[in-house]
Amino acid sequence: MSHYPALRLRRTRASAWSRRMYAETVLTPADLIWPLFVTDGEGVEEPIASLPGVSRWSVDAVVALAREAAALGIPCLALFPNTPHELRSERGEEALNPDNLMCRAIRAIKDAVPEIGLLTDVALDPYTAHGHDGLIDGAGYVLNDDTAEILVGQALNQARAGADIIAPSDMMDGRVGLIREALEGEGHANVQIMAYAAKYASAFYGPFRDAVGSRGLLKGDKKTYQMDPANSEEALREVELDLDEGADSVMVKPGLPYLDIVRRVKERFEVPVFAYQVSGEYAMIEAAAAAGAGDRDALVLETLMAFKRAGCSGVLTYHAAHAARLLGA
Ligand code: PBG
Repeated sequence: MSHYPALRLRRTRASAWSRRMYAETVLTPADLIWPLFVTDGEGVEEPIASLPGVSRWSVDAVVALAREAAALGIPCLALFPNTPHELRSERGEEALNPDNLMCRAIRAIKDAVPEIGLLTDVALDPYTAHGHDGLIDGAGYVLNDDTAEILVGQALNQARAGADIIAPSDMMDGRVGLIREALEGEGHANVQIMAYAAKYASAFYGPFRDAVGSRGLLKGDKKTYQMDPANSEEALREVELDLDEGADSVMVKPGLPYLDIVRRVKERFEVPVFAYQVSGEYAMIEAAAAAGAGDRDALVLETLMAFKRAGCSGVLTYHAAHAARLLGA
């Protein structure tokens, strides 16, 4: 009498065509949002040591990258400014300057590559002399309501310059509702809000802070406003609040260590969820590949697919252009 398994799950894996046919999840360039760091000057490219392969670029160079991204099928860029140090201040007023680096980059890209979306970060850390995302009191505590008021001005400043998606990353309470109201009040009805809803006080942001020049400035940590990595119920409350206040989509950040949060949010709210594969995660993959621990291209595509499988509509990743090239090949 012959014995065979009643079900052979290996049967559908036996050939490439079949694996393709049975794939439950797809990853395409349309899933990728590419974060870019902008710096002053012209024809400038400044490599970031802790983020190998990523640079800060002057506005003209960023425009060229935007063209490249559009040709690769990447739908959207996320912009971050490295504000010149002499323009940083206690209250981060440069964030409100209609001619700041961010606004100049937005206008230049929108002018040259109107078909690509632009997501802009709302938070004061690239503008403050103390590196915090908001205004601080004498004891160094980040003030919620005073900060939210400035963030509204920052968001309007970006929307006026042509930003398509306002992405508040500051974690102040109530800011999404205030920003939504201000955008509507000024006629920016179609400007979206992607809320960094569940943003954790993470050790994975180090290279980003190098990139925007805030690492050396930061006094203390961000634990009084960013979330405790121990918490998951609280992430659902954050998401619920931001949705109630008018967010079009929500973000979970960092990415890979928080895929359980992505899944919970997706299952509970059934709204568009994005994840940010942050700078430290990128650096970890690059270091692993450089050390021979794994194949770089395979690591990149596997981790990005994991975000899709977990329920993400898209991923912010420094590997976006590279991944889009791999996917297009
Ligand atoms: C700033 C901001 C941070 C990141 C995105 N927006 C850093 C922080 O909160 O300190 C991190 C992104 C990354 O590490 O790639 N509010």
